[in-house]
Amino acid sequence: MSAAWLKNAVFYEIYPQSFYDTNKDGIGDINGIIEKLDYIRDLGCNALWINPCYDSPFKDGGYDVRDYKKVAPRYGTNSDLYRLFGEAHNRGMHVLLDLVPGHTSEENAWFLESKKDEKNEFSNRYIWTDGWFEGGDGLPYIAGESDRNAAYILNFFKCQPALNYGFLKPRKPWQLPVDHPDVKATVEALKDIMRFWLSHGCDGFRVDMADSLVKYDDENKSGTCEVWKNVRGMLDNEFPEAAMVSEWCNPKVALRAGFDMDFYLNHRGNGYSTLLRDYEDPSGEDNSYFRKDGKGDIRRFLDQYMDWYEDTKDTGYISMFTCNHDTFRPRYSLDYKELKLAYAFLFTMPGVPFLYYGDEIGMRYLQLPTKEGGYTRTGSRTPMQWNSGKNLGFSEGCQDSLYLPVDPAQDAPTVEAQERDPASLLNTVKAILALRQEQPDLQADANLEIIIGKKEQPLVYRRGQILVALNPSGENAAVKADVTGKEIIFSIGGGELADGQIRLDAQSFLIMK
Ligand code: NOJ
Repeated sequence: MSAAWLKNAVFYEIYPQSFYDTNKDGIGDINGIIEKLDYIRDLGCNALWINPCYDSPFKDGGYDVRDYKKVAPRYGTNSDLYRLFGEAHNRGMHVLLDLVPGHTSEENAWFLESKKDEKNEFSNRYIWTDGWFEGGDGLPYIAGESDRNAAYILNFFKCQPALNYGFLKPRKPWQLPVDHPDVKATVEALKDIMRFWLSHGCDGFRVDMADSLVKYDDENKSGTCEVWKNVRGMLDNEFPEAAMVSEWCNPKVALRAGFDMDFYLNHRGNGYSTLLRDYEDPSGEDNSYFRKDGKGDIRRFLDQYMDWYEDTKDTGYISMFTCNHDTFRPRYSLDYKELKLAYAFLFTMPGVPFLYYGDEIGMRYLQLPTKEGGYTRTGSRTPMQWNSGKNLGFSEGCQDSLYLPVDPAQDAPTVEAQERDPASLLNTVKAILALRQEQPDLQADANLEIIIGKKEQPLVYRRGQILVALNPSGENAAVKADVTGKEIIFSIGGGELADGQIRLDAQSFLIMK
């Protein structure tokens, strides 16, 4: 059973570098998040996911953790983070930290021990081959960088050696089985890190590359799933209110392994990607469902989503997001009107939704050189745009010191400007999230039934007693539906109920009760 607070949770993802700088050094900080908690709450989000904020050489934006138990000095101190937990709780909000279980930085103290030639407690904390000239048996590896006569296996970038969760089917002597004591010690070390933050007030974790632990795992990831069941057992015993969301994109497997939520990630060609990002590159054709001129085939999403949803609705939640720090901002190809409809849809679906900072005002994707291993992701990680002041209100520091440049456009969206405009994207997001909080039928658990889900027709779905209709296309539309006794309680664009029909203006969204 998932923590009860997830039932009406709406998350706000914060990339801490870029949210709000309070000490004028050009980079966001924990105190900045605390200062903006009221803003986030008033927006309608009652939970946070903060990207890794731990000590790190930042070769991958902090996903290369040097010290799991220490806040990176550029963000503040551990005490600041504990205060953030307290301030969030005072406002009825919850905070997830980012847990990186599959790898550390090559500068992590465990790794510095592990690479030594003489055997020690950490020799098997990472996966090492048994000779400098031995390849990685199909896994990516680095040789020639340590005194130890061996090569180490990577989990992602070169700076991220893989922690050792063993091999489900070892085929070489250096591949330890999953029940090896040194492998079990890795799992215990992971639980120790989790206990550390949970006992200081954190409410759970977003889990990075959650499927990546055990190597040569089977198709169903049964080895990796055993690790998560073990972790879940610890949480159930010691921190029953803690929640975990996996970066996995396989809810049938992840939710049964003990995650409360699994992200529906933007993988090219999957159902989610067809909604907001159905393009190969900027010059190519864009068939995203929410484009006014899109091809309007919601089945490309529903075929995958409904299969997952039906299979997992009694087990946990599928989490859809507006964007994340790895993904092109939706504003990259959608305009404000299209974004309003897209968000209205995402925030009225079952499960637990995530809003990426800045998407509520339609921040742009910027073309920028890579920063801290961001590459093409860098353009989605720029500073939050608060107002029309210096550095768009992100930082009082000098422009040259900014972590990344702010959007230079004359019409760069800001919170301040959109707060003044009743029809803005920001105010639309507020209205839809307020409605979600008011209506339990729009929250995580209420049953979803697709009434009409066809090509080039409005989408009509039921959540509990509530009926929702959506017409993303540029043409007016009408569909037959039983609307007896129903009235429209929320709308974007226009529409009406009459004669057993829902009439929808071009680009409209109606909620009926
Ligand atoms: C997924 C994270 O979201 C991404 O930002 C990171 O680069 C990789 N995992 C490696 O940790």
